[in-house]
Amino acid sequence: LTVAVLISGAGSNLRALLEAAADPQYPAEIVVVGADREADGFAHAEEFGIPSFMVPFDAFDSRERWGAELSSQLSVWRPDLVVLSGLMRLLPHAVVADWSPRIVNTHPAHLPEFPGAHAVRDALAAQATRTGASVILVDDGVDTGPILAQERVPVLPDDDEHTLHARIKPVERRLLIDVVRRIADGDLDLDAVAASHAPPAP
Ligand code: GRF
Repeated sequence: LTVAVLISGAGSNLRALLEAAADPQYPAEIVVVGADREADGFAHAEEFGIPSFMVPFDAFDSRERWGAELSSQLSVWRPDLVVLSGLMRLLPHAVVADWSPRIVNTHPAHLPEFPGAHAVRDALAAQATRTGASVILVDDGVDTGPILAQERVPVLPDDDEHTLHARIKPVERRLLIDVVRRIADGDLDLDAVAASHAPPAP
């Protein structure tokens, strides 16, 4: 299974996937890393000799034009699966339509709890005693897609955003590596999952 990974930041989840995929027994291969900005995570792609591309969001005069360029860059690699792993940008509907259902996302909360870009901060603000990590199929909503894997993560009384996120990420990575393996092995049928999922309310 060939995989394209899209990031915006440190790419620690990307690195975990690169390390897993370095094992010849792992049934998936990362073929390209893309980002919407100069992501620190590009360093991991370089280290593993994986090509990368950048489609800077600020260079485009609309989300749709940015998305169209992103999608065409992705198409060059003809990936079997697109993994959003720390891409901090909502994809235009056209991009989701281009790649669905072969596009999954990692999220640092126990969806449907705490969707959106500040999941860790929101869990702390809500004084939650537990949160989680989720891997979902990307649909047209914001973190509303069908859940492929998720696991609870405890919140400790003296947690701040950094310590809580640091506890969530290893769980996210484990779930992501396992979901990609299951897709590659044919144990997880994304078409079937998408077919059984109601589209998000408009
Ligand atoms: C991850 O927790 C991801 O779910 C969230 O942002 C974080 C990205 O971390 N959207 P990294 O860039 O993989 O280190």
